[in-house]
Amino acid sequence: SERTLVLVKPDGVRRGVIGEVISRIERKGLKLVALELRTLARETAEAHYEEHASKPFFGELVEFITGGPLVAMVVEGPRAIEAFRSLAGATDPVSATPGTIRGDFALEIGENIVHGSDSTYSADREIKLFFPELG
Ligand code: GTP
Ligand code: MG
Repeated sequence: SERTLVLVKPDGVRRGVIGEVISRIERKGLKLVALELRTLARETAEAHYEEHASKPFFGELVEFITGGPLVAMVVEGPRAIEAFRSLAGATDPVSATPGTIRGDFALEIGENIVHGSDSTYSADREIKLFFPELG
């Protein structure tokens, strides 16, 4: 079994789809290991998105992700990383298949409702950053 970090980003919280996202995770058979509503400090946001530090949209990304409360969770199950990214759909919500979270609830790449770790390396790093107590 594998763990992944999932975020319902501030746009998802504002849109009122926290329950919808959790419901899809549970319906798939994945298990919640940790869950918290919080507003990210700038330093945490910059660390979380460090791979994008040189991208032109980095400033906008950090402003957005710190701009309101988000829901952070650790989700566990067989191939949980790939399983959740499949539920989330493509990064660009207009290209995301209907039936996926982004395909059903978003239109803009900068406001695409959810995050899911993209590799075992990223999952370890991100889970330590958000939930250091989980080890
Ligand atoms: P995450 O699960 O959020 O990491 O999305 P991803 O893995 O599908 O995409 P990626 O890691 O490549 O990009 C991280 C986030 O940056 C995306 O989810 C988008 O919200 C945002 N992003 C990516 N490209 C753009 C862009 O061109 N403009 C803006 N404003 N945001 C972007
Ligand atoms: Mg990513």
